[in-house]
Amino acid sequence: MKPRHFTVAITGASGVIYGLKVVEELLRGDSRVSLLVSEAGFAVLRQECGLDLAGTPGEILDGVRSHLGLPGERLSYYDLNDLFAPIASGSAAPDAMLVVPCSMGTLSRISSGNSGNLLERAADVMLKEGRPLVLAPRETPFNAIHLEHMLKLARLGVRIVPAMPGFYHDPETIEDLVDFVAGKVLDAVQVEHTLFRRWGSRP
Ligand SMILES: Cc1cc2nc3c(=O)[nH]c(=O)nc-3n(C[C@H](O)[C@H](O)[C@H](O)COP(=O)(O)O)c2cc1C
Repeated sequence: MKPRHFTVAITGASGVIYGLKVVEELLRGDSRVSLLVSEAGFAVLRQECGLDLAGTPGEILDGVRSHLGLPGERLSYYDLNDLFAPIASGSAAPDAMLVVPCSMGTLSRISSGNSGNLLERAADVMLKEGRPLVLAPRETPFNAIHLEHMLKLARLGVRIVPAMPGFYHDPETIEDLVDFVAGKVLDAVQVEHTLFRRWGSRP
């Protein structure tokens, strides 16, 4: 099977570690990843993961590669102002786009079709091309605006996979909880993984 191409967008919701885990897992397989990070996403990466990504797109790409400890030849990074990136066009749309974690701000802009930057445009392209778009919203509690946006998008076929870890797989570490959410995101796009033990399988 041809290697698949995914866009992964990390926004400024808590839980940016989920996005990094999804990127890592896709690269450990044979997928190609186009990575996007919002400005708030960079701030939360600094705050929650101590990962300070700055500089040119090439320097940011190197920073992600060295953080993941992977060569990452199949990893590309695009600035959100780069509306000339291939993923801005339906003619070069990836196989699926994953927004992990998805802030309520980005959720709102995707649900209203606002294509003001590359992340929003890439998501809009997925919707117009009828390709898989997966959002992992993170906020608590949700207000009615958040819920309305999620319902609207779910009715358009967007997979809403909230960053809500389960506890039925006997997690022992924070990593186990992160892996559970990342694994559920990958399940939504049929990427095989062993990030968590499935219900009914032996330990
Ligand atoms: C440490 C930190 C944690 C945050 N956590 C969340 C969150 O869980 N959910 C959310 O919707 N916004 C959260 N925010 C606020 C968003 O970063 C903010 O609304 C931002 O404008 C989102 O921009 P973006 O959608 O372009 O990434 C957080 C901000 C900070 C600094």
